[in-house]
Amino acid sequence: MLRTPLCDVLGVDVPIICAPFGPWEEVGLAAAVCGAGGLGSLGTSARSLPELREQWSRLRELTDRPFAINHTVRPFDEEAFAATLGFRPAAVSFHLAVPGDLVKRAHDAGVLWIQQVMDVQQAEEAVAAGADVIIAQGGEAGGNGGWIGTMVLVPQVVDVAVDIPVVAAGGIADGRGLAAALALGAQGVNVGTRFLASEEMRIADAWKTRIVAADSADAVKVVNSARVMPPFSRPSRPNEPRSLRTDLVDALRDDPGGVDPAVMGPLVLEAVRAGEGHEFLPFAGQSVGLIHEIRPAAEIVRDLVAEAEAALTAAAGWIGS
Ligand SMILES: Cc1cc2nc3c(=O)[nH]c(=O)nc-3n(C[C@H](O)[C@H](O)[C@H](O)COP(=O)(O)O)c2cc1C
Repeated sequence: MLRTPLCDVLGVDVPIICAPFGPWEEVGLAAAVCGAGGLGSLGTSARSLPELREQWSRLRELTDRPFAINHTVRPFDEEAFAATLGFRPAAVSFHLAVPGDLVKRAHDAGVLWIQQVMDVQQAEEAVAAGADVIIAQGGEAGGNGGWIGTMVLVPQVVDVAVDIPVVAAGGIADGRGLAAALALGAQGVNVGTRFLASEEMRIADAWKTRIVAADSADAVKVVNSARVMPPFSRPSRPNEPRSLRTDLVDALRDDPGGVDPAVMGPLVLEAVRAGEGHEFLPFAGQSVGLIHEIRPAAEIVRDLVAEAEAALTAAAGWIGS
């Protein structure tokens, strides 16, 4: 069985993290990934504290394995963060900024800190802040992210992180991607888009179907997203979400002045809170081109590992041949 030191740090069997998906409900997905030996995650954006507490309790009822609760700065919610530490998940994961003060609070509460970074400067900040795990997220990723490719970013972050385990994210949807990440010096992967198109994920079927049908070129960076998305409440490194194209995505690119934030912002938020939003911003990464069917999460985890083992064995066969 494929195992790296990251597994011991996180208390999991396989070096696979299922990404947090902002406001979209993923309790069933996280439970399935935990059950398959990986690390499940729950997002926290745009949800009330009672809603979040209900999700956390439900996941804890479904699994006694470790999972992560995620926060970002788009926007940062102090009440939800304090409650997260009180709930004591195995780990907090964080994206879009490296908040040293929050890392310390998590550690004081006995909670691991998983820091997602988009460039080397952020990786250096994560090391200085005492992160326990650093996710190097390449620009191929779905959702908010930077522009540097995973292939280029991961080894640079590995060099900066030295003894801190690095996890690769962005564009990884099968075991070949996991094998490549390990070859770059990462100890695991954080997978988003592949798990969005899982049976357990609670987004609209139309969103999943689009992922399966899409070509990598259909997953584009959304320019001028600030016109319709929540603001950053703490300083953040530059980033831009990646999504499948829609009329809104095209309008934000071609005629941003024609998209009224006062009208579209609330519309998008309302749709997202209802578990939808695919008609506006169906976040997805370039790995859509690798995804050909909607599958149970446990099968996705199992195949990621089996395919990675096969890919690594095949590659090792080239040595000395
Ligand atoms: C729909 C969606 C929502 C996301 N929301 C978050 C989030 O709230 N917090 C976060 O840290 N990352 C978020 N991400 C990014 C993931 O953590 C991860 O970096 C990314 O999905 C990996 O790239 P991939 O989609 O190519 O697998 C999101 C990704 C997607 C697709």
